[in-house]
Amino acid sequence: MKILILYASTHGATKLCAEKLALALGSETEAVDVNDFFGSPAQYNGIIIGTSVYGGRILKEIKAYCKENMSILLQKPFAVFFSCLSERETTVNEYLKQNFPPELAGHAAACESFGGAFYFKKLNPLERAVDKKIASIYAKSSGIPAPDGKSDFSTISDERINAFAQKINSAFGKAS
Ligand SMILES: Cc1cc2nc3c(=O)[nH]c(=O)nc-3n(C[C@H](O)[C@H](O)[C@H](O)COP(=O)(O)O)c2cc1C
Repeated sequence: MKILILYASTHGATKLCAEKLALALGSETEAVDVNDFFGSPAQYNGIIIGTSVYGGRILKEIKAYCKENMSILLQKPFAVFFSCLSERETTVNEYLKQNFPPELAGHAAACESFGGAFYFKKLNPLERAVDKKIASIYAKSSGIPAPDGKSDFSTISDERINAFAQKINSAFGKAS
């Protein structure tokens, strides 16, 4: 089964998640940055969309792509993952509902957060200060060590990615 993972990523966390998911799904899966994708989703048996979340909003390239290609996406097995700090099911479902057209949100066979990451070394000083604050708030609420603003900080979970891949194999397999 040919699966396309289309993703957008600001600093690389969603890209990493997409690559890990492609490995978990096997050799017929392609992970492509939506900005570099000029093919047609029609060539694939299933489509997975991946995006990070900033202030409750997904990345604009993904939003635009889904809007423009909605009719073909509705004809294919479809799923969504987020790279973001929130992992609670209710919050993740809110992100899905608030950022995707209702028909497409309803069409998603699976929707999960794989966790988020901050690559402090890649950021400029202003971004570093903002990101350190956000990651610290999250760390406090989750009872994990606060980031130091220098070393990379990640909550991306291989377990979540592998569980999602299993869900996809079962949901997309049945649908095709
Ligand atoms: C300014 C800012 C706002 C963020 N807002 C949210 C948010 O609303 N919900 C959330 O779960 N994570 C939020 N995050 C965490 C990012 O989604 C997370 O770091 C993600 O892994 C970044 O992925 P990317 O490098 O692929 O863009 C925010 C991070 C920053 C820096």
